[in-house]
Amino acid sequence: MMLPDASSVQSEIARFEAELAQSASLREAQAVRDRFLGRKNSVVSAWMQAIGSAPPEQKREIGRFANELKQAIESRWEQYQAAAAPVAPAGSVDVTLPGREPLVGHRHPLTIVRTQLEEIFTRMGFAAVEGPEVEDEWHCFDALNMPAEHPARDMQDTLYLASPIAGDSPADARTLLRTHTSAMQIRYMQAHKPPIRIIVPGRVYRRDDLDLTHSPAFGQIEGLAVGEGLSLADLKGTLLAFARQMFSPTVRVRFRPSFFPYTEPSAEIDLSCWQCDGAGCSMCKKTGWIEIGGCGMVHPAVFEAVGYDPERYTGFAWGIGIERIAILRYRVEDIRLFYENDLRFLEQFPY
Ligand code: DAH
Repeated sequence: MMLPDASSVQSEIARFEAELAQSASLREAQAVRDRFLGRKNSVVSAWMQAIGSAPPEQKREIGRFANELKQAIESRWEQYQAAAAPVAPAGSVDVTLPGREPLVGHRHPLTIVRTQLEEIFTRMGFAAVEGPEVEDEWHCFDALNMPAEHPARDMQDTLYLASPIAGDSPADARTLLRTHTSAMQIRYMQAHKPPIRIIVPGRVYRRDDLDLTHSPAFGQIEGLAVGEGLSLADLKGTLLAFARQMFSPTVRVRFRPSFFPYTEPSAEIDLSCWQCDGAGCSMCKKTGWIEIGGCGMVHPAVFEAVGYDPERYTGFAWGIGIERIAILRYRVEDIRLFYENDLRFLEQFPY
């Protein structure tokens, strides 16, 4: 090979420009670039090798020519690439880009369960109504047959509020955050005559610390039916129809005797475990039964408190925890997950 000199630098640059100008595609242009700049067998690589075989006194100069050529070709190649890159006109849309998927939200699992409960009971003729979360102790306790000092008030640790509420609260009644949706039974009966069929979904509050199974605020769904000749069989049939729609068509209902001041008789509502059908498994803690709430026949004292004739009317009522249903429904182990709103949790629910 002839040793490079100043004029061969210029002539190689000119040759590179000419070949680049003649290339018909980016691919051809790339091949031209590789012939001049490639690591092996290119003009520049040959010049670099020539340094090694040149007489010592020429090495420096040849090295300078090789570098000049390399830089000149690199900068021309960059210019060529910049000019060849397709430029989208301002404001145009590149229809070949992948679409951006819109984030679609969905309901909170507790809302899903609450809606399902409402749907089931409204199909059975119950109207859904809501009551105030800030209550007074007369509606929450006294009228439900729990006078002051009645030990049953201890069943629910109550959060009392400092300021009184206006409206229909008796003057001396303390204000509180309702401990159960049962308070709305009273409000509704005060405002309506029988027959009555309502459900009251909503939030209730208790002085409980947040742990695996407790929360100071949680949801309940109350039920109340009042009419003439209603019996415990109507209550059981209603809850059975609910349980079969909510959990499994073969579920059975068991009433376990209990005590609530506002019902007589009172019962805990147990459902046969729909996972093991009563045989005993981890979900029912080997008992075959799962408790979901309390219920009973409305106590005559409650009818008296709202001015109904207890000789004429009978009624039944229940209270079910919404979280409790959601925990069973989705097998959630920690109630706190419902309140932390971690998307990794929330996104696991169906819609
Ligand atoms: N209020 C009760 C509670 O919060 C639940 C309950 C039990 C409601 C029996 C009722 C009932 O209406 O009849 O634990």
